[in-house]
Amino acid sequence: MTVPAPHPPKPESHIPVLLDEMLTALAPKDGEVFLDGTFGAGGYSKAILQAADCTVYGIDRDPAAIDRADGFNSEFPGRFTILLGRFGDMEALLHSAGVDRLDGVVLDLGVSSPQIDTPGRGFSFRFDGPLDMRMGLDGPTAADIVNGWDAEPLADLIHTYGEERRARQVARAIIAARTEAPITTTQQLAAVIRKVVRPSKDGVDPATRTFQALRIQVNDELGELDRALEAAERLLKPGGRLVVIAFHSLEDRRVKAFMTARSGAGPGVSRHLPVTTAGSAPAPFELPSRKAVKPGDAELRRNPRARSSRLRRAIRTDTPAAGMRAT
Ligand SMILES: C[S@@+](CC[C@H](N)C(=O)[O-])C[C@H]1O[C@@H](n2cnc3c(N)ncnc32)[C@H](O)[C@@H]1O
Repeated sequence: MTVPAPHPPKPESHIPVLLDEMLTALAPKDGEVFLDGTFGAGGYSKAILQAADCTVYGIDRDPAAIDRADGFNSEFPGRFTILLGRFGDMEALLHSAGVDRLDGVVLDLGVSSPQIDTPGRGFSFRFDGPLDMRMGLDGPTAADIVNGWDAEPLADLIHTYGEERRARQVARAIIAARTEAPITTTQQLAAVIRKVVRPSKDGVDPATRTFQALRIQVNDELGELDRALEAAERLLKPGGRLVVIAFHSLEDRRVKAFMTARSGAGPGVSRHLPVTTAGSAPAPFELPSRKAVKPGDAELRRNPRARSSRLRRAIRTDTPAAGMRAT
């Protein structure tokens, strides 16, 4: 018996994760200016604009997300601007809109539900679609990597960005399959991976980690994140809030490392105290807490996709940003 392929959900729906927690951390006030670096379906931007009489600039690299901003101008006249581009380029994008200082930056990393649930975008192996995975519609696709890279860099990619223990076997299986015919769809690739990786006990599909690795590479997700964190440090005013929501541990570790390093919070400080730089060299951020905020049970029941989300926040001090200090 063949199991029918699941119908993709209505791709327009996206339930914002950790929404209340994001608003508490960003604490918008009247007259302030914010960047929502990952506009997506606009859930965060809308909530920020409703929370205070403030201004929001939204960035997204996906033209489909930009289309979803239609209507924001009439709903929030003079208070919202959408910008197409990468958040790693936030300084240039904001400068082109005449903005050079911000009271808050929020980044809700990863892909949106409309992206995952649109088979033609190629992010999910739950539906068959072209092996694409580009959030913006530029640059090499996942198919270019899968069909073009040599075995060793392919295995390294799957190991490093997918944290897949059987990365070498997956790379070898991909090379063997593609010598027969190019791998062009999500379900073809998932079938190749499932031949060499067994399902885990918690039911995670064997293809999950390799798909994650490809998506990170196709979209340079970690490079984008590094550039964005540094740009946010330069753009935020003293007292400005940086709020980042990550969905996988590679991103969350990077955010944590950045915030820890830039707040001067070395090891040995109590985990239960707010982290300040008192007594040490001045640092560009303070951490209200070292701990990430996780979704509660009620949110997980409402939105199982929130499962692995982690929110971290930092507050800008008046110390000049790295690279902008007098020597
Ligand atoms: C998780 S969704 C954001 C959802 C949004 N917070 C909401 O409430 O609707 C992430 C969005 O960020 C965008 N994105 C991811 N990386 C990006 C980057 N480097 N530059 C710009 N946009 C990016 C994706 O295209 C996607 O639309």
